[in-house]
Amino acid sequence: MCGIVGYIGSQEAFPILIKGLKQLEYRGYDSAGIALISESKKLNIYKTKGKVIHLEEETQNRDKSGNVGIAHTRWATHGEPSVVNAHPHISMSGELTLVHNGIIENYALLKEQLIEKGYTFKSTTDTEVLVQLIDYYYQKNGKKLTKAVCKALNDVIGAYAIVVLETNNPGHLVAARKSSPLVVGVGQDQKDYYIASDATPIVAYTKKVVYLEDGQIADITPNKEIEIINLEEKSMNVDIHEVNLDISKLSKGGFDHFMLKEIYDQPQCLKDCMRGRLFVDEENPCNNRIVLSALTNFKDRLLQAKHIIIVACGTSWHAGLIGKQLIEKFCRIRVEVEYASEFRYRDPVIEKDDVIIAISQSGETADTLAAIQLAKEHGALIFGIVNAVGSSIAREADTGIYIHVGPEIGVASTKAFTGQVNVLTLLALALGHEIGTLPDDQYRQNIAELSLIPSKIQEVLQQNEKIKRISTYFTYARNFLYLGRGFNYPVALEGALKLKEISYIHAEGYPAAEMKHGPIALVDQEMPIIFIATHHKLYQKIISNMEEVKSRKGRILAIVTEGDEDVKKIANETIEIPQTLNFLIPLLTVIPLQLLSYHVAVARGLNVDMPRNLAKSVTVE
Ligand code: AGP
Ligand code: GLU
Repeated sequence: MCGIVGYIGSQEAFPILIKGLKQLEYRGYDSAGIALISESKKLNIYKTKGKVIHLEEETQNRDKSGNVGIAHTRWATHGEPSVVNAHPHISMSGELTLVHNGIIENYALLKEQLIEKGYTFKSTTDTEVLVQLIDYYYQKNGKKLTKAVCKALNDVIGAYAIVVLETNNPGHLVAARKSSPLVVGVGQDQKDYYIASDATPIVAYTKKVVYLEDGQIADITPNKEIEIINLEEKSMNVDIHEVNLDISKLSKGGFDHFMLKEIYDQPQCLKDCMRGRLFVDEENPCNNRIVLSALTNFKDRLLQAKHIIIVACGTSWHAGLIGKQLIEKFCRIRVEVEYASEFRYRDPVIEKDDVIIAISQSGETADTLAAIQLAKEHGALIFGIVNAVGSSIAREADTGIYIHVGPEIGVASTKAFTGQVNVLTLLALALGHEIGTLPDDQYRQNIAELSLIPSKIQEVLQQNEKIKRISTYFTYARNFLYLGRGFNYPVALEGALKLKEISYIHAEGYPAAEMKHGPIALVDQEMPIIFIATHHKLYQKIISNMEEVKSRKGRILAIVTEGDEDVKKIANETIEIPQTLNFLIPLLTVIPLQLLSYHVAVARGLNVDMPRNLAKSVTVE
């Protein structure tokens, strides 16, 4: 997965491209590169290993002129991160230059065939094979680029978003996509065009965008309408959409890191998420209600569902585990939660009247997208819970609910997780009420309590300094165990994932009672153990688990309910969260765990927003 930016028009391309790369750097950041056609019609390609800032430094005294260019920030799949493997890649003839996001699965076979035809290769990437293949058809078909791209893509198996630049004819760019996102921004009066992996780098210039669909190839020429064909070379309609992204939401707003800002944004994000959906009438709670258009539009299919399958990856999968408990509790419908990557490859049982809920922050996760495509083939209803508006999963779904928490930049997901859990809560309450499994009075009470969650998160955030102090004891730990039960079990998994991702400390989450079936062997005075021990029916049992750890000298940090006295006697440190209903507890207990992992990573001097080896949006398998 990577970030692609392209520009063509009357402005200087370089500043637009470099700014765009910085905004997309969350997608990949092991190397970066840029290709420009200068005023004197010369092709200049600059590439560096590492971040976009290095590319900026490297190009400081170089010729950066030109009104057309393409740029890339890479997350290597084929070939180590290096200058030679960085994009853009140029064809042997020197006539075509290309940036690519995705994987060409049959690149080895194609490479062999091209070598037989006399092509030679400089890099070990799959991408260079694609540019040579396009070049092969380009030379054979009278140097017609769009046709050559189309022919080449018919030979390709895999996923791609590409932009191609033609050295001898720099008046246009050709872009195409399959399974990797690509958006084209249409400048005023079509004077210029902006291309990017998502709309973020485009919105500063134009709100009009075209989301390329799978199998579409676009010929983009300034002062002309964009032309789109499919892989059969048939002309396609061009749908121009309006995007509404708030640019101020893309900056750090005074925080040291995006992750910290996004943790602090959560009260507001959840209010945004519930706006127009959750209605509370304090004077007359009988009027409390949830309105979800997705539920109204597909009411029959949802009410009839006997079986729901949630598919997701990573943090979104953890939100799914909470969603299962919520839907089973309030709707009494059987729910399975599947890793999208496993589900798509194991011939799962999917019935026509099943509902598939796909949860994804980016809406571009390749495995989740493939999982819903498979479910669609079986006729199931696809329900998306997505953050990125207009993303592939959002468009592929039959219906769904956007979480509306704004763009999430930090690679470690925080506000998207609480947004997803919030939406799942709205869905479970509304559906349960419709079905009749959630009685009216409980429905109204639950709604009232849900509306208080943003301010309760605010209270938890006030303990940031305490959590920062506690984190210093744990900076040098090598292993962590996170334990919780019921609704707090997925929170334990999420806390462990957060710590692993940004502090590189090994951490595992477990249902607390499972500890004695194995993990307890790890416990010694070196081992921090995080217990999520809020008040609920299993509270006493979790206290027993804590005693077991204590007697083996484990260091305990416990997340407890305000006013708790019992756990305080056992744990080394406690963090209190406000009282709430048990099913809403994950929205509060996850907050201190997000802050803990943040402070541990900062204390270890690590790059919190761009942890090593990870990328924000995993658009490859
Ligand atoms: C979260 O902190 C991770 N970076 C990762 O697990 C992420 O949740 C996963 O890749 C799924 O992404 P999605 O929500 O965009 O589909
Ligand atoms: N497969 C290509 C490579 O390894 C593109 C990876 C990406 O999407 O960044 O270079």
